Amino acid sequence: MATGTELKICVFSGAGMSAESGISTFRDSNGLWENYCIEEVATPQAWVKDPDLVTAFYNARRKNVLEAEPNAAHMAIASLESWAKVQVITQNIDDLHERAGSSEILHLHGQIRMAKSSGPHQEKAYYPIKGWELTEEDLCPDGYRLRPHVVWFGEAVPAYEEAASILHQADALIVIGTSLQVYPAAGLIHYAENAQMKCIIDPKANELDVPTSFKKINAPASEGMQQIIDWLENL
Ligand code: APR
Repeated sequence: MATGTELKICVFSGAGMSAESGISTFRDSNGLWENYCIEEVATPQAWVKDPDLVTAFYNARRKNVLEAEPNAAHMAIASLESWAKVQVITQNIDDLHERAGSSEILHLHGQIRMAKSSGPHQEKAYYPIKGWELTEEDLCPDGYRLRPHVVWFGEAVPAYEEAASILHQADALIVIGTSLQVYPAAGLIHYAENAQMKCIIDPKANELDVPTSFKKINAPASEGMQQIIDWLENL
């Protein structure tokens, strides 16, 4: 394996990454999708049917994110930059990796603190949202109502190719806090064919469907990341 700043570590995170910051996951018991219907709040059809309901759902998510702080696992991932070139690929729409100090972050499913036009032309213009609330009066310069910059079910994942390329180049892969049930994101782990160290950190790691080349660390994000840091410190 390469060493020092040559080493390329990719961290692939999901909702469990932010669980210890007080942000709900989607598919655990009492997760978000147990309390909300995906079809009513997280699809393009939901927006057409009831944009106020969709906006209210994401306003609540944004409020939760603004009130949250990065946890020890976010901080540990930022500290990995002392050992290696670290690229975070996250399915999370929160900004906790940024606030912890990670410098290279690719958001596969968008960013809750940004908005974009709901018009038919998916322009690549994103607008920071001040505070937690987006309202029906917040319009894009093209005249359409602003919607959250979030990839909904049924929409394309524009950052997918870039993510696949990063994984292909990784020497090590840390997957953390994702049930790997949502595609195409979940399929990305298979691009890391050059990585000589692969692990998955999750309290349910033993139940998750990953290739046998993955070491399973059956622990919450903070505890699992501490194990990785301890290992690096003793190399
Ligand atoms: N530390 C690490 N992992 C945890 C923790 C924790 N403290 N708590 C729970 N988890 C794990 C769960 O065991 C589960 O495997 O986090 C995972 C969360 O899985 P999901 O809720 O399915 O979240 P995720 O995989 O990120 O969902 C993918 O689905 O709804 C969409 O767009 C949304 O990006 C999201 C995508």
